[in-house]
Amino acid sequence: MMHASHSPHLPEDWRENAYDLARGLAAYSGSRLVAGIGRVIAKHPEAKIANAFNHKQVGCKMWARDTLFATIGASCRRVVVLGGWYGILPAMMLEDPRFDIEIAVSCDIDPAVEPVAQTLNAAFGDRFVAMTADMHALDYRALNADLLINTSCEHITDLRSWLDLLPPGTRVLLQSNDYFSEPTHISCVNSLEEFQAQARLAHVQFAGTLPMKKYRRFMLIGAV
Ligand SMILES: C[S@@+](CC[C@H](N)C(=O)[O-])C[C@H]1O[C@@H](n2cnc3c(N)ncnc32)[C@H](O)[C@@H]1O
Repeated sequence: MMHASHSPHLPEDWRENAYDLARGLAAYSGSRLVAGIGRVIAKHPEAKIANAFNHKQVGCKMWARDTLFATIGASCRRVVVLGGWYGILPAMMLEDPRFDIEIAVSCDIDPAVEPVAQTLNAAFGDRFVAMTADMHALDYRALNADLLINTSCEHITDLRSWLDLLPPGTRVLLQSNDYFSEPTHISCVNSLEEFQAQARLAHVQFAGTLPMKKYRRFMLIGAV
């Protein structure tokens, strides 16, 4: 573990260093997402971007993106991510050349994350939209998405009640976990089987578990 408590000016130093590093990594890798992380560090110092983009979060989202491609291929053009936080998964999908995404929407109930998600995804122009809304209050028919993603199922009170709002046949990718000790995780499950029972999807194309150090993440891909 790294310790840097010797520096009296750590927060400012950290931000400048992180900004320089993100810009360097973006130049080296050519990643528009990483360039977006740099812009977020500069423009939204209050955003917890290091938490949202830590290796565990990135690992779970790469698992989602890669399994999605292996399961349904490139056949999703209009994607809506619910509980989308800073819009990292849409950015990962928008910059992945295997997909052909026309529009990716990131919806979150927290108004503070919308401008951050917009900054992160600025390079994707009008292919990305951030919106502030409760996922329970959306008109899913009007959204006309061909894929709904919710990797925040552990954050919503009653997963099945939310799924009941979607038009039958809607294709979904869902993630939850057994990380009960985090206070904002109000709906964790103990196993993949419990997650499947909670979701009661009409069709399941993929069901799997990703073991992490402190918890397990569960994922379902299918249709309601
Ligand atoms: C901590 S984040 C994301 C955690 C998740 N493991 C991930 O990275 O996908 C959970 C997000 O869900 C959002 N959220 C919770 N309830 C919501 C609701 N009813 N509608 C929309 N967003 C919601 C929160 O505001 C928060 O930004």
